[in-house]
Amino acid sequence: MPSTAITLKSTENEQNLIIHRPISGLSLKGNIQIPGDKSISHRALMLGAIAEGETRIQGLLLGEDPRSTASCFQAMGAQISELNSEFVTVNGVGLGQLQEPFDILNAGNSGTTLRLMLGLLASHPGRFFTVTGDSSLRSRPMSRVVQPLQQMGAQIWGRKGNSLAPLAIQGQSLKPIHYYSPIASAQVKSCILLAGLMVEGETTVTEPALSRDHSERMLQAFGAKLRIDPETNSVTVIGSAQLQGQTVIVPGDISSAAFWLVAGAIVPDSDLLIENVGVNPTRIGILDALEMMGADITLEHQRIIAGEPVADLRVRHGRLKACTIEGDLIPRLIDEIPILAVAAIFAEGTTIIRDAAELRVKESDRLAVMASQLNRMGAQITELSDGLEISGGTPLTGTDVDSYTDHRIAMSLAIAALNATHTTTIHRAEAAAISYPNFMTTLQHVCG
Ligand code: S3P
Repeated sequence: MPSTAITLKSTENEQNLIIHRPISGLSLKGNIQIPGDKSISHRALMLGAIAEGETRIQGLLLGEDPRSTASCFQAMGAQISELNSEFVTVNGVGLGQLQEPFDILNAGNSGTTLRLMLGLLASHPGRFFTVTGDSSLRSRPMSRVVQPLQQMGAQIWGRKGNSLAPLAIQGQSLKPIHYYSPIASAQVKSCILLAGLMVEGETTVTEPALSRDHSERMLQAFGAKLRIDPETNSVTVIGSAQLQGQTVIVPGDISSAAFWLVAGAIVPDSDLLIENVGVNPTRIGILDALEMMGADITLEHQRIIAGEPVADLRVRHGRLKACTIEGDLIPRLIDEIPILAVAAIFAEGTTIIRDAAELRVKESDRLAVMASQLNRMGAQITELSDGLEISGGTPLTGTDVDSYTDHRIAMSLAIAALNATHTTTIHRAEAAAISYPNFMTTLQHVCG
């Protein structure tokens, strides 16, 4: 008898993921291969598309977000082979050579596609572009990239003072700036650096805390000249640059591994080995937070692959205790806060998450949605203006919950449901495919 049953029910408009409980003796065991890193996949496709020559990508994430990036750049002349996780080739157009697309560029649900691409489009003189996304993306703030681009001389128009997609961009010859970003955001930083590639002189971004540095690493690997000052969290790109196609090996996404790290930590008697996970220092805040909570996690077989640190992560069930997650740690685990909230429900004491107001403008308002959906299951979570207060130790009962079409909410609720006393139905669970197309199959496999 399997210890749990995971079933999928498709209706006309949505997929429901049903986690059947109660079950005695559920434990999670086995080895897990996770899909490629989403941030690195976007950047490999984009840099490949604007470089000279051929880029070869191994381990690309086949989620809907990178597919959006690929289709936007194909529409501007890049030749991208059929997407698969083994081997994708991109034949780039060369810097400054993106073609004016014949139609609107659609970034789907992907903030990274839209914000990074804007930097490139704004710096293509004489070409006109229109960009849009799905209803979630059309509600997310674009002023954080539009404003610095305007300071560089960009011409961008859109709703609400040019801050919401759809946006129209008349490409220009831009000038260099030193931008002091009010938020620690890799999307903002990367957008400006990509715009700076085409600009004569030095374009610098300073951020209040260090955000993920995949753009910096990959730009240097493709031949761009960068100056990095870790003391002040500043990066300078020296333009105009020349980029040459490269081989990119995409490690597994720690943001996807995070679901199994928490699942293994909270489900009794679990022991999981998550293989080939990217452990870039700017991304491992989740490991620091789970360590503070007393989780039993070890890094095995640590190595460097194509400029990014990689390890296998072993997690075993154990007692968790509450902690406070705030300050400079937040940008290092920004996408893992929904699943950390699940861990906190099963920890002893009250966990505080603060300085995380950015979560209100992700694919959904993640603070509001996590608090409301987990509280429906019996958790005791109070929403703060910039975080969550989570009283641990309250048992969860299964019920109907909703992903709000947010991939990380769908998967976090599924992991919470593993430890609930009754059956949980997660509505609109198909959202998981944005970043983790095989999530449900892997869930069935580890519960098997
Ligand atoms: C990303 C940066 C982060 C993160 C997003 C991916 C990236 O967004 O939340 O999932 O690839 O640059 P912000 O830059 O808005 O923090």
